Amino acid sequence: MFLFSVSNAANEYNRVIVPSAQQPGSIAIYPGSFDPLTNGHLDVIGRASRLVDHLVVSVLRNEAKAALFTVDERTEMIREAVAGRPNVSVESFDGLLADYAARRGARLIIRGIRAISDYEYELQMALMNRRLRPEVETVFLLAGEAFSFVSSRLVKEVVSLGGNVHGLVPPAVEQRLRARLGRDSSPAAL
Ligand code: PNS
Repeated sequence: MFLFSVSNAANEYNRVIVPSAQQPGSIAIYPGSFDPLTNGHLDVIGRASRLVDHLVVSVLRNEAKAALFTVDERTEMIREAVAGRPNVSVESFDGLLADYAARRGARLIIRGIRAISDYEYELQMALMNRRLRPEVETVFLLAGEAFSFVSSRLVKEVVSLGGNVHGLVPPAVEQRLRARLGRDSSPAAL
């Protein structure tokens, strides 16, 4: 993924990192459920958007999986959060991710890794996607360590039990979580 050279002139390491993905017109897909977007996701979006010309954050439409927010609500929350990033767009998809990425002209799928526990599931998906579409490469990015414990599932649980998730999700997401799951709201799917 990266060409990487190190020189130690004058006891100083000069790292020259050339992102090979950064070719004119390079597109990457960052897929997920995003139910809802967290600051960990946003951190990965920031990192990925610096590596490619265009990043498409893609929300899976999956009728079979119960979600707290509708796909429209989730895409809207992500759009609000990435409004200041000109090379990031948001859309939804269904069917096979590998086919969608190929249709979209993307050579890269971005996934965030928080801890070793994410690895097994991610490895299986990446290898299956590679088998389906060898031309589409999966790239794993490390979310900032400040977010390594943050997941959509946990923030929903914490808010539903009256806890504070300030700083772990964007402010607009925090408001919507409180409106839907706060102690005064009616019960909803976690
Ligand atoms: O945020 P999530 O729930 O971990 O994201 C999972 C996602 C959307 C990346 C994965 O479920 C997916 O790619 N679904 C699309 C269907 C598909 O391609 N299945 C085969 C995956 S190898």
